[in-house]
Amino acid sequence: MMRLVLMGPPGAGKGTQAVGLSREYGVPHISTGDMFRAAVAAGSQLGLEARRYMDAGDLVPDEVTLGIVRERLAQPDVASGFILDGFPRTIPQASGLQEALRDSNLQLDAVVLIDVPDAELVKRAVGRRVCRECGRVWHVEFNPPPGGACSCGGELIQRDDDRAETVMKRLSAYHEQTEPLKGYYASLGLLLSVDGMGGPEAVHRRVFDALGRCNSR
Ligand code: AP5
Ligand code: MG
Repeated sequence: MMRLVLMGPPGAGKGTQAVGLSREYGVPHISTGDMFRAAVAAGSQLGLEARRYMDAGDLVPDEVTLGIVRERLAQPDVASGFILDGFPRTIPQASGLQEALRDSNLQLDAVVLIDVPDAELVKRAVGRRVCRECGRVWHVEFNPPPGGACSCGGELIQRDDDRAETVMKRLSAYHEQTEPLKGYYASLGLLLSVDGMGGPEAVHRRVFDALGRCNSR
């Protein structure tokens, strides 16, 4: 059982860490960014609306985001818990989440903040490549795909919002709208800050250690 929020700036490694944590704890990985990208790919009304904001590096409006998360949290597979990746990102989203959990008599176990300096984030986002087929995430320098294609054989593409100027806008949105959540969750006694520098395995160990300490407190 684990109800976890993974928080951190664009490119910090939330998605990378969420994949392993979801497997270890046996709970679903819920990424609002992935849900919006799936809606864009499907060409749905939600996708059309979300795309305008995503391509500009802005946040999708709170009501829209809260709507899809409430729906997702009502699915049966979250009974054992969840790893939320990239949600909440604003104070209204965080209070909306608290409300939804309270209605079901549930609580978060922890909020893990993956901390990475801005200069490194730009490198991580701009060099990221994603498999069109299986969604696996690579990095041209830090986690290069063998032979230039995904291990499943799928074609690798760059996310539309991973161009340098859009990454800078996403970073300012993070600093202005999402960073205030640090204080919000610290005051609830839920915040665990983890150094996100070093390779994915080193970061994973730090996250796991921090969660171990939080479970035994
Ligand atoms: P979203 O998809 O959530 O993007 P993000 O938060 O900007 O984060 P990223 O997915 O870019 O980075 P990540 O932390 O997952 O890093 P990753 O593991 O891939 O959101 C996209 C957009 O959707 C938003 O801009 C917004 O418009 C909208 N949206 C989503 N949620 C919303 C919400 N709640 N409210 C409103 N709008 C919302 O790693 C990055 C790269 O680095 C990869 O190439 C990886 O291989 C590499 N890497 C990972 N870890 C390491 C490491 N330790 N060392 C070296 N390289 C590493
Ligand atoms: Mg991600």
